[in-house]
Amino acid sequence: MAPSSQNILSENVPCAPSFKARFDIGVILGDCGIEPTVERYDAAAGAISWPLIDYSSCAPTDDQLAINRWLTRAPLAGKRILHVGAGNSSLASLLADDVDAVVAVTVSVDEWRHAQRLDLPGYTPLLMNKHGETFANAFDAGSFDYIVDNNLSSFACCQKHFERYFAAIAEALAEDGVILTHWFGMQWVLDVGVDDVEPAWLLDEHKLRTIATAFGLRLDRDGDVFFMRHADRSGGS
Ligand SMILES: C[S@@+](CC[C@H](N)C(=O)[O-])C[C@H]1O[C@@H](n2cnc3c(N)ncnc32)[C@H](O)[C@@H]1O
Repeated sequence: MAPSSQNILSENVPCAPSFKARFDIGVILGDCGIEPTVERYDAAAGAISWPLIDYSSCAPTDDQLAINRWLTRAPLAGKRILHVGAGNSSLASLLADDVDAVVAVTVSVDEWRHAQRLDLPGYTPLLMNKHGETFANAFDAGSFDYIVDNNLSSFACCQKHFERYFAAIAEALAEDGVILTHWFGMQWVLDVGVDDVEPAWLLDEHKLRTIATAFGLRLDRDGDVFFMRHADRSGGS
């Protein structure tokens, strides 16, 4: 028996009906239905030869370096930084001596161990998936002056879990804090043929502003570095 058009529709709509998106940038998968864990990328990582999530022995990317450079010119004394996507801990290695604290998040066990071995002052590496419930509950409101993620949506599994992540960083941002990201990372999504990320997650300025606005943040840019601050604050560095 041929399926009715209603059946075809329901088979092709993976979004859980209870999920109501806060923004629309053309992403189809509303809810992947799988709680994000640190093992989430194993299948994709195993299918390719180049590093995907383990950058413990890689040089920092150009976008990470550009953000690191911007931070060296920013006020640092007494500041707390959240670094999402630790890589080889380039940010903490550069700034740990100058700030109050750096907390770094990674899904890679090797990056986490590498970060621990560095034993930098005030540096706390955490092994967790930024899209997961644990991350969403990990930090007090307003506890970071700078939040850095040069791959904001590069690894997004679905809109629901991206929104959970973004809500968490907006909440964790200090009143006059800034979230930093970069054009290069905005323009890259995981696309290796296994657990691929939807191309709609490739961000441009308009899409990032749409997302930021949905979470009460204002978007500014300086060349390829992008900044998000609480919209009700008029100042900013
Ligand atoms: C391409 S590497 C970039 C590393 C570093 N930021 C740099 O640019 O040199 C991606 C980083 O994001 C982390 N990552 C990817 N997906 C993640 C997730 N869902 N939760 C937490 N970290 C994640 C990886 O472990 C890795 O540290």
